[in-house]
Amino acid sequence: IKKVTTATVQAMKQRGEKISMLTAYDYSMARVLDEAGLDILLIGDSAANVFAGYETTLPITLDQMIYHAASVARGTNRAMVLADLPFGTYQGSVNDAYQAAVRMMKESGAHALKLEGGVEVIDNIRKIVQSGIPVCGHLGLTPQSIYQFGGFGLRAKEETEAEKLKSDALLLQEAGCFAVVLEKIPAQLAKEVSESLTIPTIGIGAGNGCDGQVLVVNDVLGLTKGFKPKFLRRYLDLYSEISKAASEYVADVKSGDYPNENEQY
Ligand code: KIV
Ligand code: NA
Repeated sequence: IKKVTTATVQAMKQRGEKISMLTAYDYSMARVLDEAGLDILLIGDSAANVFAGYETTLPITLDQMIYHAASVARGTNRAMVLADLPFGTYQGSVNDAYQAAVRMMKESGAHALKLEGGVEVIDNIRKIVQSGIPVCGHLGLTPQSIYQFGGFGLRAKEETEAEKLKSDALLLQEAGCFAVVLEKIPAQLAKEVSESLTIPTIGIGAGNGCDGQVLVVNDVLGLTKGFKPKFLRRYLDLYSEISKAASEYVADVKSGDYPNENEQY
């Protein structure tokens, strides 16, 4: 099997083949998604939301992210395993960021790391890239800055923020990033950025002009009940399916129907 590498996604951009990415947080899901043909599995710090039930991504720790990433790595054969560095592990000194990156790579088996932000963290990103670790940038609605933004609304609507995003994207490319995630920004801006970069952009709520797309797998499968932003396309209503299965199981246990003769020793 031919593994997806940074060279693979670079070649995909060059020939205009879109890059598919979903999040994964555990071994079982990683196996299914990998075999289904996903190019990249992202161990997102959205694990803090969908796995742990926090309102923001801020609380998740490096140890917890390593546990998720290692689980995904063990279930993956073909896809690139891309892990988020969590809040607080890379925004300080260059050395702290480098140490966090090295820990994630050594202890999880991830192939690449994703860090949020542009000029503010560019020295730290440069150091991590120079140490041989592939880095994916992340601009626009960067959820680790949610308390500064004050909400999960569209980013870079206005000229100043759009200009900063464009220059951040170029900085990330110059620093050696192999890709950039663009989250919840106007489609026209994402298209411009995608055309101005030689590295691929992966969009979420950033329109059809990106070089690839990413979504949170729990959202795609309909497991997150109330969450229905405009950009989300749901492929399953897993919440209902699981609910139905679980209540049937309860009924079968209560009635004594389960286990039957063939289901015992
Ligand atoms: O944590 C996450 O799920 C992400 C994607 C939404 C890009 O960073
Ligand atoms: Na994330």
